[in-house]
Amino acid sequence: MHVRHLTVADFRSYASADLPLETGVTTLVGLNGQGKTNLVEAVGYLATLSSHRVATDQPLVRFGAEQAVIRAAVVRDGRETLVELELNPGRANRARLNRSPVPRPREVLGTLRTVLFAPEDLALVKGDPSERRRFVDDLLVARQPRWAGVRSDYDRILKQRNALLKSAAPVLRRGRRPPPRPGTEPPEEAQASALHTLDVWNDHLSTVGAQLLYARLRLLRDLGPYLAKAYDEVSAGQSDARVSYRSSLREEAAAQLAAGEVPDVEVLRAELLATLEEVRGREVERGVSLVGPHRDDLVLTLGDLPAKGYASHGESWSFALGLKLAAYQLLRHDLGEDPVLVLDDVFAELDVGRRERLAAMVADCEQVLITAAVDADVPASLLGRTYAVSLGEVVLRE
Ligand SMILES: Nc1ncnc2c1ncn2[C@@H]1O[C@H](COP(=O)(O)OP(=O)(O)OP(=O)(O)O)[C@@H](O)[C@H]1O
Ligand SMILES: [Mg+2]
Repeated sequence: MHVRHLTVADFRSYASADLPLETGVTTLVGLNGQGKTNLVEAVGYLATLSSHRVATDQPLVRFGAEQAVIRAAVVRDGRETLVELELNPGRANRARLNRSPVPRPREVLGTLRTVLFAPEDLALVKGDPSERRRFVDDLLVARQPRWAGVRSDYDRILKQRNALLKSAAPVLRRGRRPPPRPGTEPPEEAQASALHTLDVWNDHLSTVGAQLLYARLRLLRDLGPYLAKAYDEVSAGQSDARVSYRSSLREEAAAQLAAGEVPDVEVLRAELLATLEEVRGREVERGVSLVGPHRDDLVLTLGDLPAKGYASHGESWSFALGLKLAAYQLLRHDLGEDPVLVLDDVFAELDVGRRERLAAMVADCEQVLITAAVDADVPASLLGRTYAVSLGEVVLRE
């Protein structure tokens, strides 16, 4: 698939911008702070309903404006779809497909698929577990948009379970009590009721958590070979890049998952429940949920060493890039069509060999959008159509 036309209004630094695009490579070149990333960020937002740079929508709306609009004509198998998003910070965002409003923005997921690599992705290797969880979960959604629903169900359950752990902690914690004062609820009853409610949330958490866990494990199993190949190609065979899953389950089950096994959903659900039982005391003590996909992590290894803390800057960068290229290949094979590949500022950080090899790897993608501060960063073979971006003006260079 590819974007044939991108329009933004009051998005980031742009009052308005209008960018016709074609298949093949398009490069946006310009000095720092001129608005290159802003444009590709808009493309990424249409595909994922989130920015790769910020967690809230407010910074995406041009300073002083009320709302931002992103609109793209997406071509897929020769058919064109117009996707439109209206970002209304503090109020609900709105979306339209072919000019008809859809009930929820989530309905547009899947219309445009992108794989975006940006400097922020270095956090995949160097950052917190949440960065890596977001990577797998975003990829799940890119593969099958219905996972967006499962993911938000899980987040809701987790929030409510944590709220219960906090509010009921005093009741859950106390053991035997003196006889109740007249007119108050007997403590045993209050405790039994809180325990019962906690059981209900354990049930929800393990049911939805097991689905998410299972999907992540399957995804990693599929992604592994693509990662190994992508890293091998970028680094010219310097070392093996691997990814495995670190779960918050009990030791034996966690070891199984780390070894790449993918148990059935029912097995995972039972294991989640059993682990929840085991950590109840600590959870009540701390007032947070200590077990489940929200506590898990991916372990990235390069050769025999963990990437985090050991890999060099260039290696970490290449690893993060390898993960994104692997995601691209996985989606391409899964869906039988090319997502749009976005490479934001990727070349400047790579040595010459890696730049050339990356250029060769992406040359056959249906559409690649590249940003760079200077032409010299991008291998000449890849430059493609070039736009000069300066103070929010985007001009095609002949
Ligand atoms: N909500 C906003 N309203 C107005 N201007 C904004 C907003 N958000 C960001 N900007 C401006 O957009 C500019 C950054 O644009 P962008 O990140 O696209 O730059 P860039 O061309 O990618 O630069 P670099 O080469 O440094 O990556 C900054 O000058 C910033 O002040
Ligand atoms: Mg930039």
